[in-house]
Amino acid sequence: MCGIVGFVGKKPAAGLLLDGLEKLEYRGYDSAGICVGSNNGFQIEKTTERIQTLKNSTHNGEYLVGSVGIGHTRWATHGAPSYYNAHPHTDMDGRFAVVHNGIIENYLSLAKELKREGVTFVSETDTEVIPHLLAKYYHGDFLEAVQKTVARLEGSYALAILCRDDPDTLIATRRFSPLILGVSSDANYIASDVTALVNHTKDVLYMEDGDIAVMTADSHTVYDKLGQPVERPISRVTWDIAAAEKGGYDHFMMKEINEQPKAIEQTIECRIKERHVEFDEIALDRKKLEQFNKIQIVACGSAYHAGVVGKYVIEELLRIPVEADIASEYRYRDPLADEHTLVIIISQSGETADTLAALQEAKRKGAYTLSIVNVVGSSIAKASDDVLYTWAGPEIAVATTKGYSTQIALLYLFAIWAARQLGTADRHELHQLLAELRTIPEKIDRILDQADTLKEMAKRLTRTDSLFFIGRNLDYAVAMEASLKLKEISYIHSEAYAAGELKHGTISLIEKGRVVFALSGYEKLADKLLSNIKEVKSRGATVITVTQEGNMLAAKESDDIFYIPRTHSLFVPLLEVIPFQIYAYYVALFNGCDIDKPRNLAKSVTVE
Ligand code: BG6
Repeated sequence: MCGIVGFVGKKPAAGLLLDGLEKLEYRGYDSAGICVGSNNGFQIEKTTERIQTLKNSTHNGEYLVGSVGIGHTRWATHGAPSYYNAHPHTDMDGRFAVVHNGIIENYLSLAKELKREGVTFVSETDTEVIPHLLAKYYHGDFLEAVQKTVARLEGSYALAILCRDDPDTLIATRRFSPLILGVSSDANYIASDVTALVNHTKDVLYMEDGDIAVMTADSHTVYDKLGQPVERPISRVTWDIAAAEKGGYDHFMMKEINEQPKAIEQTIECRIKERHVEFDEIALDRKKLEQFNKIQIVACGSAYHAGVVGKYVIEELLRIPVEADIASEYRYRDPLADEHTLVIIISQSGETADTLAALQEAKRKGAYTLSIVNVVGSSIAKASDDVLYTWAGPEIAVATTKGYSTQIALLYLFAIWAARQLGTADRHELHQLLAELRTIPEKIDRILDQADTLKEMAKRLTRTDSLFFIGRNLDYAVAMEASLKLKEISYIHSEAYAAGELKHGTISLIEKGRVVFALSGYEKLADKLLSNIKEVKSRGATVITVTQEGNMLAAKESDDIFYIPRTHSLFVPLLEVIPFQIYAYYVALFNGCDIDKPRNLAKSVTVE
């Protein structure tokens, strides 16, 4: 996903832009660029190296004089990473400079039209049609040119635009891509996410789709999609930039693994009053819940794996059918959803394109949509009927950890709350579950204290051509996430398998030395898992088991074992995933991988 920043104020723009871009690199990155405007025109710098290269070549921005500017980090969708494809893009006369996050779906037809009118393109990007359209529609009025240009665009965009004739003005606009306006008395900022501007102001405005913001050093006006001035509420960011920095850890991922106890506590405690769960932030209530005859949980990646945990837990407590579905599949299978369906959408970033599209499909079908999101004011949060925020704080590492675990924590709260509303579980049992859930943060801390044990286990990993993670029920749900963690940051292939299914074919891959992780935290099926451990051991596998303290039978049959603190079976996933996060981290570290920014991955994929 690309990132954009913009600034207009009374201070030099370049240094602020470069700092903002560094905060956005985690979103996915292959090139970057900035443009600073002044009465003498534009000064543009681009690179296909890291942001630091831009800092070096501009002497931390000092060589670029001006107090209005825009910047961009690119994660290529159209056109390979190159200097000419890097943003900002300009028109032929250099009157407009544009940075863009999103995809212009109709760029080919627009480019054909512009070429017929004599325009020459210098890049392979979809974005470049925008400055040329601005030039086409410009007759002295910057805002009017923007309004006419965006009216021609199909697809998604968050844009920041400069006009050489108007060097004190910055214009920004969005449709389906995130864009935040940061305001202060002597400057205005725009960015794709809060981390890029929270160091300068905590007063932010979440722009709506179709909004156009016109900013100068001491004013901002927002026009809605009908061109009418509109007052958007100013919100106060509750965290500071330190939350989005490494805080002494070598990698964001290890910092965020260690933040999980606090993130889970922040997510659940604010919704527990007098030993009951209370969601005063949603419209969903008993009357609405009673109209649902099924629940669909839809997400991508690790958020989908959290949804699989949610499926098992909600079905157990509510006794209605719950499906967990991958968003890119759900959106194209004409899903069976209607006004009697509750669709729970899970997304850390709140911007994943497939998940947003699945949400829109669910709404089209008449379903009630509840989203679980970590980024306040994100597109998915705004488009849902209800939203429950995970209070994990900003998550920077591409491979999610606290995002995933707080999603699960919120799904537990939802299941307990809904079961209480519908009377589908014994009240005393629900009280006990809630009491146990509140002990999880401390139990995670106990696992974090054993990080060195997991580091040693990771050192002992020899055979890495392909590994298996097997489990049943909730253990199988965790196995999916454990497998993805290892794959996405260490580039070692692995596969999660329902332990009971292995014998139907895939067990042919088990041979001497094949590493199999056996997840046996779900005690109700521990004896079945023991049989599966014996099954693969007898074929030569090296078995590493994760199970609850006290499961001595598994120890006898395993080559290595890691115990997690005891807890209720339903809550096993929140504990069982932790050792696998730490283990994957160390395997990737020993493999010399880029842990926070794994190759080919982006923190949130806002394109199909
Ligand atoms: C991937 C991320 O790009 O998108 C994963 O690398 C994440 O960590 C998945 O689980 C879904 O993203 P989100 O923001 O919708 O939860």
